[in-house]
Amino acid sequence: MVKVHLNGKDYEVDETSEESLMQQLKNQGAEIAAACNGAGICQTCAIKVNSGELTDKTETEEMMDLPDGQRLSCQCRAKSDLDIELIY
Ligand code: FES
Repeated sequence: MVKVHLNGKDYEVDETSEESLMQQLKNQGAEIAAACNGAGICQTCAIKVNSGELTDKTETEEMMDLPDGQRLSCQCRAKSDLDIELIY
């Protein structure tokens, strides 16, 4: 398990799980907007990564051309402790 600090709250996620970072955080009550339900289209689940390591960008994220330091939480998984913020 790794620790995730998100918008002032602490969570723990399983870095070996196939579930996305977004899904694991939502399972613990984090309020993350997910208009497209994790399809990688809406960008409402976007996060700013202050520190920590995530899985590589998916093709979907590469096509989105997100600003540096931003990821789609529905498309990635944690690889280490994280400090992140929701963009929306
Ligand atoms: S939930 Fe829509 S892009 Fe992540």
